[in-house]
Amino acid sequence: MQRIVIRGGGELHGEIPISGAKNAALPLIAAGLLTAETLTLDNLPELADVGFMLGLVEQHGAALVRGPRHVEITAAEIASTTAPYDIVRKMRASVLVLGPLVARMGEARVSLPGGCAIGTRPVDLHLKGLEAMGAHIELADGYVHATAPKGLKGATIRFPFVSVGATENLLMAATLADGETVLDNAAREPEITDLALCLKAMGAEIEGIGTERLTVKGKASLHGARYSILPDRIETGTFAMAVGVAGGSVELVGARPDTLEDVIDVLDRCGVEAMATERGLRVKRNGHRVVGVDVMTQPYPGFPTDLQAQLMVLMATADGAAMITETIFENRFMHVPELARMGANVTVHGASALVRGVPRLKGAPVMATDLRASVGLVLAGLAAEGETVVNRIYHLDRGYERVEEKLRAVGADIRREAGE
Ligand code: EPZ
Repeated sequence: MQRIVIRGGGELHGEIPISGAKNAALPLIAAGLLTAETLTLDNLPELADVGFMLGLVEQHGAALVRGPRHVEITAAEIASTTAPYDIVRKMRASVLVLGPLVARMGEARVSLPGGCAIGTRPVDLHLKGLEAMGAHIELADGYVHATAPKGLKGATIRFPFVSVGATENLLMAATLADGETVLDNAAREPEITDLALCLKAMGAEIEGIGTERLTVKGKASLHGARYSILPDRIETGTFAMAVGVAGGSVELVGARPDTLEDVIDVLDRCGVEAMATERGLRVKRNGHRVVGVDVMTQPYPGFPTDLQAQLMVLMATADGAAMITETIFENRFMHVPELARMGANVTVHGASALVRGVPRLKGAPVMATDLRASVGLVLAGLAAEGETVVNRIYHLDRGYERVEEKLRAVGADIRREAGE
């Protein structure tokens, strides 16, 4: 297995290009199943998860034409309405084909995604929403079997709490339902706005985009479209934290500061300057140590859970203490024991972690456990004295495009090598 080796200590200077958003690309690829015409996606990130999702829609019958950061998806016919376990178990986001398949074909058989390292990650809100729209749901042999022989009906669905995936699945299903659907307490992540804008370009009728109340008037069919995926705010936040950790000044080219307001506010409070520029976002930290700030993860527009591990690394070397509370997932502190091996002083109390800053971390061999924890360990290596080896970096490649190349281009001493 491959690993990444980092020698810490140097500052970062230069510019990093930001790729298209993974968590927009995945539902947008699934949306290709909603139409028999061609959906063309530009600014597609080159990621393992994108490859998995394209493979999934292909086995459902979509023809793909791929180019650099570009794909044309044509699901003229749906050959199979089954999303098999051996694909779904690799990537939970596969469950996003459920809504489009039931809406287009009147049925779908999708393997239950199962849990993952950060939590049980149930899909009950996805299923309850489809039932409200008239689908019959059966669970058998680890599969969800959803049928709606007479098609889906518009319904009013009020989410008891915010769910990105459930909002995306039901938004896509509603575009082909008969009548009007209201999604109340919907998630408002920029990736959902991107999906809604693309669905509109495909002929869907959606009101309330960007708000917690989405109203969809179903259509008999959707047509093809061409859509460019928004830049990845989590990748942007990750590299901004890297500058905070290592020091220096880097321009994140292509970044959309408007999708990161809460993150920029936290960076500002802890002493990392982040300024919008013509081309994106410039992040600077010169000389002085960051200071500890208390942060609680929240659904958008709050501080994103996908940046919690990276923030913890930044706080691990802060002057003072920081209380970080994870409110979205029940088990998203797996990076803590690994950071402790590098000398971080973190105490976990349930959903909160108290981080007491230390002047420097010490390089060590560490193990990646999930996508965002892995990149946190890379950031820790940038700040640590000596050498850090991050093993199991397949987690990293799922969500970050060429991360070591992007960091090396701004001066990091980092390389990828074949592991044992
Ligand atoms: C999406 O996951 C993202 N993944 C996650 O990013 C992100 O952390 C998460 O949203 C929160 O922002 C993609 O977009 C592909 P949720 P999702 O439904 O949709 C519970 C990354 O690193 N829940 O908003 O699975 C759930 O267990 C990944 O890129 C239910 O209980 O997240 C969680 O505790 C990690 N029942 C909470 O709600 C349901 O039916 C939020 O989950 C659905 C969710």
